[in-house]
Amino acid sequence: MNMSETVGCDKVNTRGRMRRYLQTLSWLLLVVAIGLGVHFTIQFITKGGSAHSGESPALPKILELENSSPEQARKARAGMRKYDAICRLCHHRDGHGGRFTPSLAGKSAIGVETMLNLYRDGQKVGPMTELMAPWAKELSDEEIRNLGIYIELLD
Ligand code: HEC
Repeated sequence: MNMSETVGCDKVNTRGRMRRYLQTLSWLLLVVAIGLGVHFTIQFITKGGSAHSGESPALPKILELENSSPEQARKARAGMRKYDAICRLCHHRDGHGGRFTPSLAGKSAIGVETMLNLYRDGQKVGPMTELMAPWAKELSDEEIRNLGIYIELLD
């Protein structure tokens, strides 16, 4: 083995290592890019991430109700639990809606009940009825009343 062969061999090894390194780096970049893509798409759809975190803005009103009208407060809390489990994902914590979903804030209990009954009955309401109706179909009369009571407290 002479000197030039050894040097040539080292060069090939270095190049091979470099290529593997670059390949690994490209994969990492791809994974990060996909991760960021998914993250921002979800943020775009849910408009800024307020959908998932934080307590209800109506909580102070519910606490007030607990003194003046405990039965009503109990219903509002039941509505809040249901809202947080399902509805919040699309209509957001404060009920203000997202890019593709209407705001519920400021609606009266009876207004919300009426709309939920329409969706549950399979009526076509707006252009995105198909997105909303399946959720309403899962609700009992009592759950619809509780949701109305709770949503009325959102402003
Ligand atoms: C997958 C997303 C999604 C979820 C989850 C969801 N909604 Fe909706 N909701 C929508 C969309 C979209 C509309 C508008 C539908 C249309 O065009 O008719 C809507 C409409 C409504 C309306 C009628 C608003 C108006 O125009 O007056 C009410 C009330 C409502 N939703 C309440 C709820 C409640 C209560 C829940 C939880 C049980 C819920 N939604 C869960 C997407 C959703």
